[in-house]
Amino acid sequence: MSKIKSVYAREILDSRGNPTIETTVWSDNAHGAVASIPSGASTGRLEAYEMRDSDPNRFGGLGVLKACANVNQIISKYIVGQDPLKQNDIDQILLNTDGSANKSKLGANAILSVSQACFELGAACAEIPTFEYAAQKYGFPPASPTHLPSPIFNLINGGKHGAGNLDFQEFHVIPSSRKTFSASLEMGSELYHLLKKVLIEKKATSSVGDEGGYAPNLVSNTDAIELLVETIEASPYKLNEDLYLGLDIAASTFFQGGKYKISDVKDPMTGIQMGDFLIDLNRKYSLLSIEDPFDQEAWTDWENLFANIGKQLMIVGDDLLVTNKARLEEAIKRSACNAVLIKPNQIGTISETVAVIKLAKKNNFSVIISHRSGDTDEDFLADFAVGVGADFVKFGAPGRGERVAKYNRLLFIQEYLESLHPTS
Ligand code: PGA
Ligand code: ZN
Repeated sequence: MSKIKSVYAREILDSRGNPTIETTVWSDNAHGAVASIPSGASTGRLEAYEMRDSDPNRFGGLGVLKACANVNQIISKYIVGQDPLKQNDIDQILLNTDGSANKSKLGANAILSVSQACFELGAACAEIPTFEYAAQKYGFPPASPTHLPSPIFNLINGGKHGAGNLDFQEFHVIPSSRKTFSASLEMGSELYHLLKKVLIEKKATSSVGDEGGYAPNLVSNTDAIELLVETIEASPYKLNEDLYLGLDIAASTFFQGGKYKISDVKDPMTGIQMGDFLIDLNRKYSLLSIEDPFDQEAWTDWENLFANIGKQLMIVGDDLLVTNKARLEEAIKRSACNAVLIKPNQIGTISETVAVIKLAKKNNFSVIISHRSGDTDEDFLADFAVGVGADFVKFGAPGRGERVAKYNRLLFIQEYLESLHPTS
């Protein structure tokens, strides 16, 4: 049996240039692993607690030295000596050491950095790739090179990630799951560059937002969707055959005074009116998915939309579900949605994240593994998504280092699996 020999956390920068935590673990048989933790901008109200220093003299209060100290001075005492292959024990120690309901004592960023680093150390000690380790450990079927998760490319960034004029946060193109991952990535990259040309022709700016998609100057959200349609029409690909459109409305970010104000419609809308607007959009564009169509507490509006169009597309809970088992149970009971966005840092340990994925799969929810808008060059999520047999990955645009690190890892995994299962 190998034992964890050391645990050490330090402060690094994420893709937005804000501090985040990176933890390194070593085993006594000379294996090592590193995990860095992303950070959201449009965070759900019930996410686990992300610990920041709130010291105005450093990084505008966003430093994570307290979280690092919690790892180095408190958590490490309990984790050193543990068996890296026993993830459930490690996560239970982390939960017990924190003891709070939302990981506010030690910080979910501190806790997840250790949980994830230990998980990767487990894979290293088992001497198998992390995706295989995840599948074996949690009893998911082995991955196949032709059935990897489909990428959801975020080509236009609005809301809190964009330039301020689009209300909806993300405008997606989603290659058909019949395509291989490499063909999907090629399609995403080609459309990304074609869209830039279309935006330049329209004299809309082509700077990028937090997730690598363009953050153009447009009048309405519908305009952004139309530009994606125009781009696809100028490409060799066919909409609703080779690829589909999707949206992350992130509606909690613009829900004010019980209403939704968007640039497409003159007056602020009630939940029912917002639902009708989205039903219309779906009729027009045959969307594959709509994420967070309503505020995170507007359960009745979610239920109504799901009853209306839930059989036609994925209705995805992100801020609604916050990778939390109790919230997912509530959504299942209420028939509020049929897909879950999985962000490990919303809950704070690998074991709890896997429990949510298992519950989702048992209830025929689609599973989407997601990055955060502030991310790092980590590629762990690519392995994790393959290991747990996720249906989709949402890693942003096919551009910017922290996004392509994850997509490139999926390319590697596809090739690795193909080499194990040659077709000719
Ligand atoms: P966030 O956005 O990382 O800023 O929360 C991602 C999303 O809403 O899906
Ligand atoms: Zn979202």
